[in-house]
Amino acid sequence: MAIKASAPGNLFLFGEHAAVYGRPAICAAVGKRTEVLVSENNKVSVVIFSDAFGKAEIPFAPDEKIRAEKKELENVALFVRHIRKKFGITKGFDLKIASEVPVNSGMSSSTAVFCSILGALSAFAGKSLDKKEYFDIIFPYQAKVHGGKASGSEIVSSTFGGFSYIKKLKDGIPPKIETKNIEGHKFYVVIANTKVDAPTSLTVGYHVPSLIKRDSKFVYGVFDKIAEVAEEAIPALKGKNVEALGELMNENQKLLSSLGLSHPKLDDCIKEALSAGALGAKLSGGGWGGIMFALCREKDVSAVKKAIASTGAETIETEIGACGITVSE
Ligand code: MEV
Repeated sequence: MAIKASAPGNLFLFGEHAAVYGRPAICAAVGKRTEVLVSENNKVSVVIFSDAFGKAEIPFAPDEKIRAEKKELENVALFVRHIRKKFGITKGFDLKIASEVPVNSGMSSSTAVFCSILGALSAFAGKSLDKKEYFDIIFPYQAKVHGGKASGSEIVSSTFGGFSYIKKLKDGIPPKIETKNIEGHKFYVVIANTKVDAPTSLTVGYHVPSLIKRDSKFVYGVFDKIAEVAEEAIPALKGKNVEALGELMNENQKLLSSLGLSHPKLDDCIKEALSAGALGAKLSGGGWGGIMFALCREKDVSAVKKAIASTGAETIETEIGACGITVSE
């Protein structure tokens, strides 16, 4: 029996970083997905094959010591080992990971991996898992990827898909959160991967905490303004008011920049996108590189794409508000 699960990457339309500190975020699932295939392997081990990071093996020996070709697979292997034990899976299996979500880009490749592994392994174990259960199981592993802190927003977005409002109500592992599904619409965005490698742990685990330590009043003040922008975006999203959304995106970007979270290459792409007619443009995710996206009118998509591509960044055209986790046999 082979099980296939697929989960989307996502964009922070509003609220990254501030979301880690209890302010609201709005995320949209995107059409770029991670697929996990699980099949029995007649071994006494789990073998993981990742198209991005090679192979890892978890033997069923008492110490279950993980052997991973690349360090990046270790946390994934730890997650797989945890889920295998949680669901009492006793047969060996191969787990293949194939992803269209660029790694270390701000499109939440790690979350899409965790969600699809959880979906595939729960079905492999014959358990029916409610979507609401994904958050608490994945959160500790997500926080580790983000340098010890996380909002968990991407877990909600990857699991449920569409457009999500997420707010952390109480810190903890897992934290208590409030979520709402926002009725989605077809918006046109151009995403650009700056190709500047940007591990989220650098900004979430190191830069922002260091700023807070020195001037918490300023940082929390900026987070409060980001929260206002995110709240204002809800009626704009529901009412398909793309002009208002664009302005709010630009405001959010300025606020992130004031915390030193942008990058010259992100600024370069944002400037080009706006001059080519985009209504708004901002980074998404951890910042310091990774991706940005531009909101456009349909008629301006190709000019904005061309303008961004002129910077050397890789443009990605994809659906936003895509469906969440899917599992099939
Ligand atoms: C990273 O993709 C988004 C951040 O807001 C961290 C988080 O929400 O956990 C920077």
